[in-house]
Amino acid sequence: MKKISTIVASAALIVSMSYAKEIKIGVVLPLTGPLAAFGQTSNDGLKIAYAQRHTLKNGDTVKIIVLDDRGDKVEAATATRRLIDKNKVTAILGEVASSNSMAMAPIAERSKTPMITHASTNPRVTKGKKFVTRACFIDPFQGAIQANYAYDHGYKTAVIVTDAKQDYSVGVSKAFKKAYLKRGGKILGRVIINSGDKDFNAQVSTIKSKNPNIVAFTGYYPEAALMVRQARAVGVKAPFIGGDGVGFPELIKIGGKAAEGFMYSDHFNEAAATSKVAKAYVAAFHKKYHKPADSMGALAADAYNMLLNAMNKCSDPSDKICVNTNLRDTKNFQGVTGLINIDKNGDAIKSGVVNVVKDGKFAYLTTVNP
Ligand code: PHE
Repeated sequence: MKKISTIVASAALIVSMSYAKEIKIGVVLPLTGPLAAFGQTSNDGLKIAYAQRHTLKNGDTVKIIVLDDRGDKVEAATATRRLIDKNKVTAILGEVASSNSMAMAPIAERSKTPMITHASTNPRVTKGKKFVTRACFIDPFQGAIQANYAYDHGYKTAVIVTDAKQDYSVGVSKAFKKAYLKRGGKILGRVIINSGDKDFNAQVSTIKSKNPNIVAFTGYYPEAALMVRQARAVGVKAPFIGGDGVGFPELIKIGGKAAEGFMYSDHFNEAAATSKVAKAYVAAFHKKYHKPADSMGALAADAYNMLLNAMNKCSDPSDKICVNTNLRDTKNFQGVTGLINIDKNGDAIKSGVVNVVKDGKFAYLTTVNP
């Protein structure tokens, strides 16, 4: 009895002393499953950003609730509903894979909950949505980065590899093709893979027979690593170029020597980071994780800080409409990944980089401005 009365008394004290509210941000990530590296690296970055700042201007504190969707569309949607209905979050951050963000977006839209995806690049994620915004560039931009880089470095013919199960890959393939043809490149063919495939013998044989200057691989890292290995084993010499979905340590771990020379467009490379914001993030990241700061974590940090900035512009930071309006209004936001401007579609206009696997590491090649 005595114990209970003590608890009640201290709770009453807290209430009477502080008017600060707790503002909740719900996060949906693939922390487990085949694309777990997407979720884990996002979460790493989020932790850094949270440690750096989790109090709003008015004294309210921010709480993050992270749910694992195991990389599954249906679970991504379920997690989003739960965060909005049960946890009463003010905003949603996530997902990584475009297909999963596309399963979440209609829920955010219907419930008028601001959603920011830090990493989903397919244009359809935000298309026609008022409540969905992103912290990353879109696939027509990165497809053009890859196509132009390839063509301008003497790779004038290509075979495209498309993962038919991923909206992301379908979108990057389309974007690459369009930009490459425009530049003067020639597409010699296209091979189809499906997420989860392990045997790419048929596809690499086709690539070998077409003998392109370059292979435009538009899928994710698990298939990239296996495919590039199998391609080298049958004697495909052409380099691979891909998008943001391939630059993960697994590419090197599983791809081994075969992954050397794999080029890809990406959101960030710490070697090219010059802003104060980026330097502080990179330093904190090194201190905590003892490894280079990856682009995924940096994007998650940026999305989180864009949300906090929008919240700080509202007298009531739990007012979803106000937060959304200000999020959509983000202009000249200095993020870890660069300067971010949100356009009328909710897409981020910002620069990208090209990286390459060199001596078992991800090395920076160049920056491309919008
Ligand atoms: N852009 C990818 C998608 O839309 C996700 C991704 C982003 C993967 C950044 C890796 C790094 O599906």
